[in-house]
Amino acid sequence: MRKIAWIFLVALCLPLCGFAGQLESIKDVPIPQQNPQTPAKIELGKKLFFDRRLSGDGTMSCATCHDPQQGYSDGLEISLSYPTTRNWRNSPTLIGVAFQKYLFHDGRASSLEEQALFPMMSAFEMNQNLDFMEEEIRSVPEYVAEFAEVFGDPDVTRERIAMAIAAFERTLISRDAPLDRFLSGNKKGLSPEAVRGYKIFTGKGKCSECHFGVNLADDRFHALQVQENPEHLKDPRIAATRRFVAKVFHFEGYRTLAEDPGRYLITKDQKDWRAFKTPTLREIAGTAPYMHNGIYATLDEVIEFFNGGGGTGNAALKPLQLTPTEKGQLKVFLEEGLTGAPIRFIYPKIP
Ligand code: HEC
Ligand code: HEC
Repeated sequence: MRKIAWIFLVALCLPLCGFAGQLESIKDVPIPQQNPQTPAKIELGKKLFFDRRLSGDGTMSCATCHDPQQGYSDGLEISLSYPTTRNWRNSPTLIGVAFQKYLFHDGRASSLEEQALFPMMSAFEMNQNLDFMEEEIRSVPEYVAEFAEVFGDPDVTRERIAMAIAAFERTLISRDAPLDRFLSGNKKGLSPEAVRGYKIFTGKGKCSECHFGVNLADDRFHALQVQENPEHLKDPRIAATRRFVAKVFHFEGYRTLAEDPGRYLITKDQKDWRAFKTPTLREIAGTAPYMHNGIYATLDEVIEFFNGGGGTGNAALKPLQLTPTEKGQLKVFLEEGLTGAPIRFIYPKIP
């Protein structure tokens, strides 16, 4: 009887007590009921994703900062921006974004349909007027025909533009990584060195306390106190961007805001000060530089950061005392184990 009670307690606790989570292989991609996937919608979304009409000065598309050749990121510390402005954060990969519960480093959007309009409107990104953009797309006969096919009538709206782009984004999935083969029972799925790294990831390294599930991410926010880049702190253009976003989110004292407040911007809860979303680790070998501000150029630097117990004053991490060999094994797991088959991609022809 006592034994049964224990099993019951443990089963109840596992999802609630914050133990290291299980890694999971890729399975069904969640698709919202209001926006079913169809091949025509995905194709339309892909065109819009690459269409520079979506930016105010016609120089930028979504792919400028989420480039298929760069792991759907842009390879820069902080992302590109509208002329004369500067962005303030690193462009996250869009691979596996369908699995993300919250979007942006601070989680300020929660659906891809909602998110897509932000960069178009953003003064420091695409800086486009959405009324104008609708007219631009409406004036292209090929687009009108495609909207009619996809949505049942030819009306072009910002909501439909966002729906089509979201449908395309949900196709960006890393599949058949060595980790997936290993998890589905193929013991040789990972190389022996990567298996050692996997054991550190889920054991001594404690990585899977936050990096677990299909996307190796817990859908939560942690204040690891990743350091700010001193050069960025001095740049008045970045200060303007930071303060502008803070104002939009009703941050009191936005005019003197001198660092990235992270999740606090949204919750105004002190525990979220400089907390950022746990990012996916799938395809991590191809999406340097790392962290919300791109402060680390290599995985070695990231591993060193976690090994040292994270940034000054953080309460989320403790030093790990990994040996040089163990650090090497962990890196092999991250690089080899989480890189899937290349995502097949053919550039669309923009009408
Ligand atoms: C000028 C560069 C730039 C352009 C253009 C751009 N993005 Fe982004 N994107 C970023 C940056 C930087 C972030 C992170 C911003 C943040 O966290 O505050 C981001 C975040 C995202 C995210 C959230 C990902 C995650 O894991 O949280 C999605 C989805 C996304 N962008 C899609 C798009 C789409 C769709 C477009 C075109 C409509 C687009 N982006 C255009 C730079 C850009
Ligand atoms: C307490 C939760 C937590 C633990 C434990 C943790 N991470 Fe993270 N990890 C995060 C968060 C949050 C970020 C994003 C921080 C930021 O953007 O400032 C991150 C970022 C990363 C990145 C950069 C990803 C990118 O695209 O920028 C890598 C790589 C990474 N972690 C690997 C690891 C490894 C390896 C371990 C174990 C040694 C580990 N993490 C342990 C929460 C955690």
